[in-house]
Amino acid sequence: MKQLIERLGGVGGNSDGGVTRLLYCEAWVAAADLVQGLMGAAGLETRRDEVGNVFGRLPGTDPSAGVVLTGSHLDTVRSGGRFDGALGIVGGIAALAALRREGVRTRRSLEVVALCEEEGSRFKGSLFGSRAILGLVEEHEPDAMWDRQGTNLSEAMREVGLDPKLVSNARRNDVECFVELHIEQGPTLHEAGIDCGIVTDITGLSQRLFTVVGQADHAGAMPMDRRRDALAAAASMISRVATIASEAGHPVVGTVGELTVDPGSANTIPQMVRFTLDLRHPHDRVRADILSSIVQECQHIAISGGLSLEVSELWEQPGSPMDSALQDILADTASTGGLTRQAILSGAAHDSQLWARHVPTAMLFVPSVNGRSHCAPEYTSPEDCAQGATVLARALAEIA
Ligand code: GLV
Ligand code: MN
Ligand code: MN
Repeated sequence: MKQLIERLGGVGGNSDGGVTRLLYCEAWVAAADLVQGLMGAAGLETRRDEVGNVFGRLPGTDPSAGVVLTGSHLDTVRSGGRFDGALGIVGGIAALAALRREGVRTRRSLEVVALCEEEGSRFKGSLFGSRAILGLVEEHEPDAMWDRQGTNLSEAMREVGLDPKLVSNARRNDVECFVELHIEQGPTLHEAGIDCGIVTDITGLSQRLFTVVGQADHAGAMPMDRRRDALAAAASMISRVATIASEAGHPVVGTVGELTVDPGSANTIPQMVRFTLDLRHPHDRVRADILSSIVQECQHIAISGGLSLEVSELWEQPGSPMDSALQDILADTASTGGLTRQAILSGAAHDSQLWARHVPTAMLFVPSVNGRSHCAPEYTSPEDCAQGATVLARALAEIA
């Protein structure tokens, strides 16, 4: 596991120790090749679909039976860690390789997938790989999404030899369940000294784009009491986000992670600011109420400063409970293997949250040292990775 994580983590590695593998970029292409090679070397039948998802298959004894799918995403956030997504892929390959080596024959076929995209780091539409397999990508979508450089998703696909017109062919109807191994990305398991987490729910998520419009004026000549400074107003709004989310209490989390200032010069009062809000809570009603108080307070800040505020939806994902029978299998498998475990809520988004709305789905977490993730110091020990892959292998054998 150590070797596999290091090899994949080396693809797209930055000088700060982080990893950047954005969808269809050079590092992504190299990583997809590497992963397909690893699957082949593990004795799995490999193939790629129309969006670049890479599959490795260990055939079952009943060709008419459905598929038990495991895996995770190949892409990363900008300067992310080596384990997010990667562990589910290499852990899935290791699990299927071990079952094959041990001569375990299952009735259903087992497949591991390296999903092409989950993070939404290059194009705003997240979960692209899973959505393609589930037939949820709209026909116009590849033409309607752009990255920061102004490259269209369709163009980006063509650059790596994929045809955006064929996205709908990636759809599959034979997947019977989905099981994802992942790092926790928060501090719970590591701090409690627990080996693994059985995910009960994946949080719901509301992402919004806030656009604050004021007035550009001279930074030296316009007196303070005459300004309509979009950034000063945005700063008050952002500080309210943090306060409201903190006061609402765990597991509410609110983050402003992207901000653009227009015109963005030191001696001009900012005319327009755009910032994102990422608000999470597993219960859709609770999240909607908190979102509405944040928007109300921000509107109040805007109006009282003579500015305007528009809020538009970027992404809305309901909270997703995991399948209870699959949770039991993971929990029993962990206990039988002598591991400690606990039920856990996922505050991070995952492919599994989408799969869960279509087929029985479960997630297994292993500890993240100090809860660090989406950053270079993200780390899970090789022993914890291997324990996760072992539980995954045994659970997949039982399920299939
Ligand atoms: C992805 O990692 C997310 O939680 O947004
Ligand atoms: Mn992530
Ligand atoms: Mn992830």
